[in-house]
Amino acid sequence: MLILGIETSCDETAASVVKDGREILSHVLATSVDIHTRTGGVIPENAAREQVKSIIPVVHEALIKASDVGGWKWENGQRSEKLEKNTSHFPFQYPASHIQLLTSNIDAIAVTYGPGLIGSLLVGVETAKTLAFAWNKPIVPINHLIAHIYANWLEQEPPELPAVALVVSGGHTDLVYLMDHGDIKYIGGTRDDAAGEAFDKTARLLGLKGFMGGPAIAAEAAKFKMQNAKIKIKLPRPMLDNNNFDFSFSGLKTAVLREVEELKRNQQFNKITIQQLSFEIQEAITDVLVDKSLKAVKKYGVKTLLLAGGVAANQQLTEKFKNSINQLTDYPINFFVPSPPLCTDNASYIAACAHYNYQPVPWQKISANPSLTIMGAQETN
Ligand code: KG4
Ligand code: ZN
Repeated sequence: MLILGIETSCDETAASVVKDGREILSHVLATSVDIHTRTGGVIPENAAREQVKSIIPVVHEALIKASDVGGWKWENGQRSEKLEKNTSHFPFQYPASHIQLLTSNIDAIAVTYGPGLIGSLLVGVETAKTLAFAWNKPIVPINHLIAHIYANWLEQEPPELPAVALVVSGGHTDLVYLMDHGDIKYIGGTRDDAAGEAFDKTARLLGLKGFMGGPAIAAEAAKFKMQNAKIKIKLPRPMLDNNNFDFSFSGLKTAVLREVEELKRNQQFNKITIQQLSFEIQEAITDVLVDKSLKAVKKYGVKTLLLAGGVAANQQLTEKFKNSINQLTDYPINFFVPSPPLCTDNASYIAACAHYNYQPVPWQKISANPSLTIMGAQETN
């Protein structure tokens, strides 16, 4: 089954064609990151304007690349050319009939309907509905948070269920028990800021550039690690010892703010202390995520742990998971994490999720839902 996935929940405009939920035939992504870097964050209106402009070219390119004209394969987290690619004629040369050729093998369209920014979601949802209507294809509405988990089906041997999944994105931190496809139980989540948000907000407090804080903190933390210096700043590990599976990261942000103010007062806020703080921020966030996830794995007695979401691109988090799992010699766990380009937002996991949770809905019944949770339209607790 070939599914065209469409994803526009935040600032990206993405389209992919995925075969049988596992094989990426095309993976196209347009981002307005330059604009958001200039404005110091995603301004929803700006993101949606760019998405309106790029959605049709992005979908068109995904269809072309999935066809014999410009096809390529996704291998080991990289694109590798399958056929000689010639997209110099893209996108204007094709007559309308060519679209019929490009879409004739597509079995269904999958689209993110929430959560996300309303203006951005509307671009993807309304485009997908229009295409489904015009091409007479089934359409599958997809929950972006559940879909993140399906990046784990795209590169390696498919994970065995049941599993525990940790979804750590920019706006959400959720631990779920995935009994089977479509059968999800909520275990715990953040009570305030998400892990990604904690990275983004503390990066801003440190004055780091780039609108995504995670990679910026990770880069500074790596510089500190290379020096092999002793850490002098200690930050809290929020809710680490609580007897539940919830998280809270807003206290961490306040603690960082206090440290920054203190360092500034003492004229010690410099590149060295920024690196040190970055290292400790990354340690604090990853310590809590690893500890609670492994406790959940044991409590639910599963053997599979799936990591997903933009923060899963963090190498220190992945390493910490692997090291902690290696130490659990009496409890073997199969740990899955997608390669970094598949952790952050893209449309390939949207299409993969639709394959494993194939529930088409009449296009008239689909609408964007910005406040959707991982458990659907209802509250998680
Ligand atoms: O899943 P995602 O791409 O978008 C949402 O659905 O929100 O996640 C974006 C989040 C941002 O908060 C970003 O700072 C974080 O993922 N992120 C990272 C890394 N790459 C992206 N956090 C830590 N380390 C990274 N390497
Ligand atoms: Zn996401």
